[in-house]
Amino acid sequence: TERTLVLVKPDGVRRGLSGEILRRIEAKGYVLRAVQLLDATTDVLHRHYAEHEGKPFFEPLVEFMMSGPVLAAVVEGEDVIKGFRSLAGATNPTEAAPGTIRGDLGRDWGLKVQQNLVHGSDSPESAAREIGLWFPGLA
Ligand code: GTP
Ligand code: MG
Repeated sequence: TERTLVLVKPDGVRRGLSGEILRRIEAKGYVLRAVQLLDATTDVLHRHYAEHEGKPFFEPLVEFMMSGPVLAAVVEGEDVIKGFRSLAGATNPTEAAPGTIRGDLGRDWGLKVQQNLVHGSDSPESAAREIGLWFPGLA
């Protein structure tokens, strides 16, 4: 079985969508192994988004991720990395298909794709790295 790191970004927490997003994850059949609400630090975010360092949206993205609490979760299940990204939908919520988290619950609020409600790890390597970053105590 496999694990992924899911984040409900500050826009999702602010809009009161954390429960709806966790509900969809559980309704799909995945299992929550750890959940925490926290204020992300600049250090964790710079490491989390290291692949995007230097891109024009990098600093605004880090700022946005510090604009309010983030809900971080470790989610488990067969092929959950791919499965959660499929639940989440396309990065751009305007283009994300209805039926997905971003397609049903997200839209362009003026900053294009920055406020897209959720993050999900994109590979087993990213998942291991990100889980270590957000849940340093987890076995
Ligand atoms: P994550 O699950 O959050 O990693 O989304 P993703 O894998 O679909 O997107 P990606 O890793 O390419 O980008 C990470 C995050 O940066 C996105 O979820 C957006 O919040 C933000 N982002 C990506 N591209 C852009 C962009 O062109 N402009 C802005 N403003 N934000 C962007
Ligand atoms: Mg990504």
